[in-house]
Amino acid sequence: MPGDVVVKIENLSFTYSSGDRPALSNINLEIKRGEYLGIMGLNGAGKTTLGLSINGIVPQSTMGIYEGSVTVEGLDTSTTPVREMARTVGIVFDNPEFQMSQVSAAEEVALGLENLGVPNPEMPPRVSAALATVGLAGFEERSPMGLSGGQQQRLAIASVLAMQPKILFMDEPTSNLDPIGKEEVFELARKLNRDEGLTVIVAEHESEVLAAYADRIVVLNEGKIFMIGTPSEVFSRGAELANIGIRVPQATELALALSTSGATGLPVTTGEAIEWLESRA
Ligand SMILES: Nc1ncnc2c1ncn2[C@@H]1O[C@H](COP(=O)(O)OP(=O)(O)O)[C@@H](O)[C@H]1O
Ligand SMILES: [Mg+2]
Repeated sequence: MPGDVVVKIENLSFTYSSGDRPALSNINLEIKRGEYLGIMGLNGAGKTTLGLSINGIVPQSTMGIYEGSVTVEGLDTSTTPVREMARTVGIVFDNPEFQMSQVSAAEEVALGLENLGVPNPEMPPRVSAALATVGLAGFEERSPMGLSGGQQQRLAIASVLAMQPKILFMDEPTSNLDPIGKEEVFELARKLNRDEGLTVIVAEHESEVLAAYADRIVVLNEGKIFMIGTPSEVFSRGAELANIGIRVPQATELALALSTSGATGLPVTTGEAIEWLESRA
């Protein structure tokens, strides 16, 4: 059912064994089915740790002190085996090359299915369907290493989609891609979110990207939730964000420069900025 809570995070704190401060500190957050959630914050703010807590790698495959709870579709991610969680939460990391281990795109996608124990005869149709969904139909025999960065990330997304997850967590998925690859990946995520109802969670430092795609943005600072709201709500508080080193979209910067203090509901995309300027004329 769209709109119900799929991820419930309560009083979550986590400190890595080797960490000198909590990576996450008393996080409370609910994510709704079909939501597109952005996570912002400087390096070390806790974005990756938060994402990994949603599929159970934190705390199951990491050493540290874990408090609170995370449930995903009712599954406790601290005890449900990570292998099992992979059916529900797919993860795509920042460096596509490190995620590629097979000689062909088809084998790359099949790998996850093998881990799930999907019978061999069922694999080819599921592999081809996943490749088609990400715009790589006919790429079955291509070498992953010969693909562009954007194609590699779409292949990584196909590999997790084949497992039919409900949630896709992408951790700075385009930080190693050129602008074309970046657009390919974010357009694909938007399509999966809108057309397939996939819940999308993206850690991303570029405010313009989240302004264009996210329903809601969580801003993390030193492991704590610093701010949460729609892109307009969050970016309208540009001065507070500047204090923790986060830049708002250029469209919002312009509006902030032209506004008297206390402005709310400021534009976050170029299109919105044009409307906003016209309404002031
Ligand atoms: N594997 C790890 N072992 C020890 N400390 C870690 C590990 N991963 C992250 N940290 C620490 O946890 C904090 C949050 O890191 P992280 O979640 O990677 O933030 P972000 O993704 O926002 O850059 C940082 O202080 C970081 O140094
Ligand atoms: Mg990170």
